[in-house]
Amino acid sequence: MRTATLAPTLALLALFVVGGCGVGTDTDVVNVYSHRHYDTDQQLFDTFTEETGIQVRVVSASADELITRLEREGARSPADLLITVDAGRLHRAKERELLQPVESPELEEAVPPNLRDPEGYWFGLTTRARILAYARDRVSPDELSTYEELTDPRWEGRILVRSSENIYNVSLMASLVAALGPEGAEEWAAGVVENFARPPQGNDTDQIRDVAAGVGDVAIVNSYYVGRLLNAEDEASRELARGVGVFFPNQDDRGTHINVSGAGITAHAPNREHAIRLLEFLVSEEAQRLFAQANYEYPVRDGIPWAPSLAEWGEFRADELNLARLGELNNESVRIFDRVGWP
Ligand SMILES: [Fe+2]
Repeated sequence: MRTATLAPTLALLALFVVGGCGVGTDTDVVNVYSHRHYDTDQQLFDTFTEETGIQVRVVSASADELITRLEREGARSPADLLITVDAGRLHRAKERELLQPVESPELEEAVPPNLRDPEGYWFGLTTRARILAYARDRVSPDELSTYEELTDPRWEGRILVRSSENIYNVSLMASLVAALGPEGAEEWAAGVVENFARPPQGNDTDQIRDVAAGVGDVAIVNSYYVGRLLNAEDEASRELARGVGVFFPNQDDRGTHINVSGAGITAHAPNREHAIRLLEFLVSEEAQRLFAQANYEYPVRDGIPWAPSLAEWGEFRADELNLARLGELNNESVRIFDRVGWP
């Protein structure tokens, strides 16, 4: 309460002291709750501070922890901006009235409509594709086509994927519910379970490593994990990644499922204007360039060069489903996973 009531007074004071010329003072801050935890994000925030004088304070935790924290703090929350690594959690934050809408021509111009909330509650910053990583020595890309085709009996004992508790899989399932209807999606999930190489375990990087190790032949993973391994510091990881091919499924129909890392202004943001400025900065050419080069994600903004690994994989058709739908179909997707026994 104290900081919340004190902040405007101090801000006013600062205005007198520095004449409102934007020079940083203690009160020129923006508080970020972020699920992202990459060094490059700090570099982005530092650049923003240099350019605007606004300090960026970051609290890092999982999106679920941050959402719980926002709920607990209520109107007293110091948070201005919530950053997550998927649209589903942003949708959840919106549903729980933890975000507020923003109208910004800059944001609307930079972020394509399907990658932001239709009402302006959140905006995508980067996209990632949920691709098929396959063993180059055992699978030919001609054998791959769609997510749906992974249920074919010829993949029995060959498919690697992490637990359904992971939001990336929940969002993928939501995209299948949107495309095939609930029954079709359930049939799909049951078919994939039939073809598991082993019970789901580990994260996306572990799935790729298990493809290389011969535990299975095709893994469903986010694109940037392959990018990271291909560009890892240790030669062993790079070597392993070179044995794994990247395939973009569903190119002849709706496109590959994508998700965003995105952000929304919190409902009670004490530094709302600064937070909007930061959000606008994060979709600027300068920031999008850094995002694109550093973590092997795709920029949301048009005309930004991709990291070399991504450029090598080439352009692909992405599912244009509005990502807000992923959030809406979240609960239904979780229930389908439960019913088919995908742990
Ligand atoms: Fe991730």
